[in-house]
Parts: sequence; structure tokens; C-alpha cells
Amino acid sequence: TYVVTENCIKCKYTDCVDVCPVDCFYEGPNFLVIHPDECIDCDACTPVCPAKAIYRDTDLPADMKHFLELNEELSRLWPNITDSKEPLPDAAEWDGVQGKLSHLER
Ligand code: SF4
Ligand code: F3S
Repeated sequence: TYVVTENCIKCKYTDCVDVCPVDCFYEGPNFLVIHPDECIDCDACTPVCPAKAIYRDTDLPADMKHFLELNEELSRLWPNITDSKEPLPDAAEWDGVQGKLSHLER
């Protein structure tokens, strides 16, 4: 499966949603996640994310491994998103900021 990691938080550009052939993205207030049982590992989403937040599970940086569990958990709670929308208003300012997990809203 592919995994959305920390730099999506407070950016939520949503370009990833438009290219996913199986619509397996789920939306929270300031973060998106991928449903691990639905992702077909097509790799379409990784290159289109302006925040470079999406990795294949096997390529996850060591400090992002906990996001695999988080995607699994939150994709069962949040609603499906199938069309892109405007990024969050301060997306550009938050892009690249470290430690954004503490800002995650559920
Ligand atoms: Fe969707 Fe493909 Fe990305 Fe999986 S790898 S989330 S199927 S676009
Ligand atoms: Fe997030 Fe990147 Fe998609 S910022 S919403 S994973 S395009």
C-alpha cells in the first residue's frame, strides 16, 4: 500500500485524489489518508503531491513508519474523498514545517 505522511498535515493539496484509479483516499479536517486494503500500488499519487507526502510502505523513511498504522486507522473512520478541492488556506506556509503530527485534527 501507499501511505500519506506528515507533510500533508495542514496542507491537504488533494491533487492525489484526482489521479487515484480506485478512489481510496479518505479525508479528515487537515489530512488525507489511504485505505491500505483498497490501494492497488499504482504509484500515480506520489509524483503529483506538491508536498511530496506519499510513499510506498516499503519506501517509508524511518521516521515516518508510524504513518502506516495511522493511515489504516483513520481510513476506517473518515469519509471517502473522490474529487480534489482547494488546498487549506495556509498550505504554502506549512509545507515543509517539521513536527506537524501534533497539529493533526481527527
Ligand atoms: Fe491510489 Fe495508486 Fe496512490 Fe494507491 S498508489 S493511493 S491506488 S493513486
Ligand atoms: Fe496531502 Fe499531497 Fe494529497 S498534500 S492531500 S497527500 S496531494
